[in-house]
Amino acid sequence: MYNTISHWQNGVAQRAIAFGKLLLELGMRISVIGSGYVGLVTAVCFAELGHDVTLYDNDPTKQDVLRQGKSPIHELYVSELLKRHLGTKLVLSDALPESVDQSEAIFVAVGTPPTENGEADLSYVESVAREIATNIKDYKIVVGKSTVPVYTSEWVRRVMLLNGAPANLFDVASNPEFLREGTAVTDFLYPDRIVIGTDNLACEERLRKIYEPLVSGSYYSRADAIPAPTPVSGPARLIATTAKSAELIKYASNAFLAMKISFINAVATLCESVGADVDQVREGIGSDSRIGTRFLNPGLGYGGSCFPKDLSAYRAVARECGYDFRLLEEVMRINNDQRERFLRKVRNVLWTLKGKRLGVLGLAFKGGTDDVRESPAVAVVKSLMDEGCKIQAYDPAAITNAREILGSQHIEYVASALDAAKDADALLVLTDWEEFRSLDLAEVRRLLHYPIVIDGRNMFSPDTMAEHGFIYTSVGRPDVVHEIPGVKSGSGRPQKPVLRTPPVETVKAP
Ligand code: UGA
Repeated sequence: MYNTISHWQNGVAQRAIAFGKLLLELGMRISVIGSGYVGLVTAVCFAELGHDVTLYDNDPTKQDVLRQGKSPIHELYVSELLKRHLGTKLVLSDALPESVDQSEAIFVAVGTPPTENGEADLSYVESVAREIATNIKDYKIVVGKSTVPVYTSEWVRRVMLLNGAPANLFDVASNPEFLREGTAVTDFLYPDRIVIGTDNLACEERLRKIYEPLVSGSYYSRADAIPAPTPVSGPARLIATTAKSAELIKYASNAFLAMKISFINAVATLCESVGADVDQVREGIGSDSRIGTRFLNPGLGYGGSCFPKDLSAYRAVARECGYDFRLLEEVMRINNDQRERFLRKVRNVLWTLKGKRLGVLGLAFKGGTDDVRESPAVAVVKSLMDEGCKIQAYDPAAITNAREILGSQHIEYVASALDAAKDADALLVLTDWEEFRSLDLAEVRRLLHYPIVIDGRNMFSPDTMAEHGFIYTSVGRPDVVHEIPGVKSGSGRPQKPVLRTPPVETVKAP
C-alpha cells in the first residue's frame, strides 16, 4: 500500500498515520440498524476503520449465520472482515434499546421496498425512528443510509420528536451509500466521494470524525488495509451538504447511471439498424472526458435491487413534488425493451422455440454477485421456459437464489459453463461474469449441437467468434452468419462464417 501513495508529501503521510493510530484508539461507538446488504457492509467497514460497531437485526436467521462468522451475502472481503472484527470491534445485537444506548451514532440501513405504485415503503424507517426515540438517553446522531426520498430526514426528526425524544438529544443526517454489489467493500473503503448531509454542525463534526481514516488517508497507509482495486490517487473526498441535497444526490446518481445504460442501449439498437458497431461508437463518444466510457456497456439492460426500484421511486417523488420527470419513464421503457429485443433475436436465430434445448450462462443480475433480484437474465429465462424451451443453466454463484424463482421444471442447473453448452441448440450469455471471457471456445463449439451463441452482454468479439466457426449475435454489433443459410453443410460441418451486419429489425418511428 505504501508505494501507491509514495508521491504524497512524506510529512503529510506521517501525520496521517499518527492521526489514524490515534483514531484507532479513539474509535467512535456506532450502531448499524439492519444487517442487509448495505448494513452489513457498512458495519464491517466501520469496524475496519477502527470504530466499535454494534450490528442490530431482528431477523434471527441472519443473526445465526453472522454469529457463525459467515457472510449471508456473496460479497468480496465481507467474510474476511467478519473474521477480523467479529467479537472485538464488531458485535451483534438483537436488542434495539441496547444498541441505541451503546452508540454515539446510529446508522439506519433498513429496507425501503417499493410499494405497488412505485413509491418507497418507509414503514421500517419510521418504526426504527420510533424505537430510537423511546430509548434515547444522551446525544446521538441518527444517520440515514437506506435509499430514501427527499424529506425523509425531516420526517425521521418529526417522528422522533412526536415519540418523546428531546430535541437537544439528537440530530438527523443523510449519508447515502454508493456501493455496488460485488465490489461493495472496496467501494466503501476507496470511495469516489463521501456525502454527508446534515443541517447541524455538531452532527457534521461527528460524521467527519467517523470517516476521518479515509479522508486523511491514514487507512491507506495501513499494512493490513484491504487492497485498493486501482492505485490510490489520494484520500477520499468528503462533500458536506444539507440533508435534502444528500437525499437527492443518491437518487439522482442512480438515475443518471441508469440513463447512461439506456442511452447506450438505444444507440446499440440504432447501430443494428444501420450496420454500425456499438463498440466503436462507445469508444468514440466515451473518450470525450466529459462523457467517459464507464456505464456505457450495452446489453440486456440494468437490473438488481437498486436501479429499477430507485427509478420508480424517484419518478414518484418528482411527481409528488409537482415535477413530471418523463425522462425517467423513457429510461425505464428502453430498459424493458432490451429484454424483448433479445428474445426476438433468439427467435430470429432459432426460428421455433418449443422443445429447443438452450444453454444459459449467467442468472445473476450482473457478474460478481449471487443476487437475482430484478435480474434481466432470470426474466429472459422465464420467458423462454414459457415458450417451451428446455434450459440448462450455469451461474458461478446465483443458482440457489435463481432456483427459488425459476423452480426446477424445464430447467436444469449445471455445474459448469461447458455443461451448459453440452448438446444445446444454442448458448445464451445473459450475465457478464468475468470467467466467461476465458471460456475454451473450441470446446464450447464441439459440445454445442448447433454452433450458435447469442450474447446479451457482448462478452466476446465477433471476430474471435467468427474464427471459431460460430454463428454469433450480440448487442449493437455485426452478426457472425454463415454464407449459406441453413446452418450445416452437406458434410455436417458448418460453413465458414462471415461477419455481416444485417438489420435485425428496422427502427420504428416514434
Ligand atoms: C448500483 C450503483 O452502481 C451503486 O452506486 C449504488 O450504490 C447501488 O446501485 C445502490 O443504490 O445501492 P448495483 O445495483 O450493485 O449498484 O449494480 P451496478 O454495478 O450499478 O449495475 C446495475 C445494473 O446495470 C446491472 O444489471 C448491470 O449489469 C447493468 N449495467 C451496468 C449495464 O447494463 N451496463 C453498464 O455499463 C453498467
